[in-house]
Amino acid sequence: MAGNTGSIVGVNGNMITVAFEGAVSQNEVGYARLGELRLMSEVVRIRGRHADLQVFEDTAGLGIGDQVEFTGELLSVELGPGLLAQIFDGLQNPLPQLAEQCGFFLRRGTYLKALPRDVRWAFTPTAKVGDKLTASESLGHVPEGIFEHRIMVPFGWRGTATVVEIAPPGSYTVEQCIAKLKDEQGQVRDVAMLQRWPVKVPIEAYAERLRPTEPLTTKVRIVDTFFPVARGGTYCIPGPFGAGKTVLQQITSRYAEVDVVVIAACGERAGEVVETLREFPELTDPRTGKSLMTRTVIICNTSSMPVAAREASVYTAVTLASYYRQMALNVLLLADSTSRWAQALRETSGRLEEIPGEEAFPAYLESVIAGFYERGGVVRLKDGKTGSVTIGGSVSPAGGNFDEPVTQATLKVVGAFHGLSRARSDARRFPAIDPLESWSKYPSLVPTDMVESARRVLRDGNDVGQMMKVVGEEGTSLEDFILYLKAEYLDSVYLQQDAFHDVDCATPAERQRYVFGFIDRLLQKPIGVKDKAAARRLFHQLTQATKDWNRAGMGSTEFRELEEKLDKLVAEVS
Ligand SMILES: Nc1ncnc2c1ncn2[C@@H]1O[C@H](COP(=O)(O)OP(=O)(O)OP(=O)(O)O)[C@@H](O)[C@H]1O
Ligand SMILES: [Mg+2]
Repeated sequence: MAGNTGSIVGVNGNMITVAFEGAVSQNEVGYARLGELRLMSEVVRIRGRHADLQVFEDTAGLGIGDQVEFTGELLSVELGPGLLAQIFDGLQNPLPQLAEQCGFFLRRGTYLKALPRDVRWAFTPTAKVGDKLTASESLGHVPEGIFEHRIMVPFGWRGTATVVEIAPPGSYTVEQCIAKLKDEQGQVRDVAMLQRWPVKVPIEAYAERLRPTEPLTTKVRIVDTFFPVARGGTYCIPGPFGAGKTVLQQITSRYAEVDVVVIAACGERAGEVVETLREFPELTDPRTGKSLMTRTVIICNTSSMPVAAREASVYTAVTLASYYRQMALNVLLLADSTSRWAQALRETSGRLEEIPGEEAFPAYLESVIAGFYERGGVVRLKDGKTGSVTIGGSVSPAGGNFDEPVTQATLKVVGAFHGLSRARSDARRFPAIDPLESWSKYPSLVPTDMVESARRVLRDGNDVGQMMKVVGEEGTSLEDFILYLKAEYLDSVYLQQDAFHDVDCATPAERQRYVFGFIDRLLQKPIGVKDKAAARRLFHQLTQATKDWNRAGMGSTEFRELEEKLDKLVAEVS
């Protein structure tokens, strides 16, 4: 199929129209020839003998009559050991190596191999000669990071594969043959650790999809207790400019209880991305004490890179995440921000002169967004073990107005909504997740009735607060005033969490249950104080003591002393 060529009949921004002979398929990769350079591009539409391709590079210099070589291959990524700890662009070029080769100004038409070819991996075979396997079943494994990286029958393998030969234990590069497999037609093929997979096709080499029900502990209290995320679930974080989307995702990538984190930094400002790249490798994994990068893959493209690469990056990220799910691992994919991805779709659609939908986004925006989140999920693998891909996407709606196409399309498909509020971020109440607007369909790690009653306190306390703005404190009854103070207390000691404090930054599940249980009892108690001033004093003391308690190591002497102090305060007034 490879080897088709065509010639350019039109150039419009990063879109080229190519007249071709023979067969060309949707999402096939083509290279536009520009002198010595070959610019990578992808077929986005075919009409008769004309194909429209989006070029992943600046198209300056390309003109009518220039040649395009079609590859016969869909836009694909490399899968195999060596992905972890890497930083790729949207086309899976390793960025540090790219920078090394080309300096600061990336040279067009430079594409590097994603997986290192010279590294040798210690392979342990598990399959035996004569075994009959199907796609994704294990041939063996190599150590990568803190776990065993499964080497599997390629996902695209059709029917049964009979093991004809399997490599003995030893060191192999990703391209060396580690097994000879015979297909149902009797043809024997060499299999290496490296396999390629088209990014826009879901990897579905598993036994079945399961419902996401097991909580994924992020250690962010407001999330886990109030608006939980499930392993294999999906959630979105819409928030106005600067409300804390990126910081929240960074905290989650550090502390969430998962095996692998894939970060898709999509269209961020170049400065921000550079910061992430500089900072991340220096962070240590709270679980292993090793660099956090050893279980992380970053896909990043800045707003200065062409939009087509931005569109691809989201698919590259979800493909890598799905790959690790096939190894019975729990993977978290964080996309920041999906709005910039949607903008890329809008630009492409505009260039194709498609009939626009709302706010000039393509009419198929909803199905594209749904298709992306559907690639998350919990699956039971063919060996009975489970793996998951959890997807969290931030959305940055213009003006912070959630009533816009990207936020709305996302809300239709995700299982949890963490809406950031401008009022809360302005008041520096971080994380700025709005406790009244947000929701989750997943089970919390504390009993539902406790969460419900706490939310009631927040709602009622907020109502009193709004009323107080009008009638003043004098116009408010003592009872209502106490309700208001209870809501403020819950907010400041539980919903808010100090991302920069060693202990407070991450609250494990067990601790959340314990502390929330205490707070619940306190909220249920009638408070006997003689006036508002006394009530204010009491809640001020409670707040200080509880904040100190949040900062003490659980189970430490200090923790117990602070707890006694809190108990005494409560006993005095109830
Ligand atoms: N949990 C937090 N704790 C303390 N400060 C925070 C927290 N979250 C955000 N901030 C503050 O808010 C600033 C902006 O946060 P962030 O960059 O995450 O916002 P954003 O929503 O990603 O913005 P943008 O729309 O520009 O991408 C941070 O630099 C930090 O000062
Ligand atoms: Mg951001």
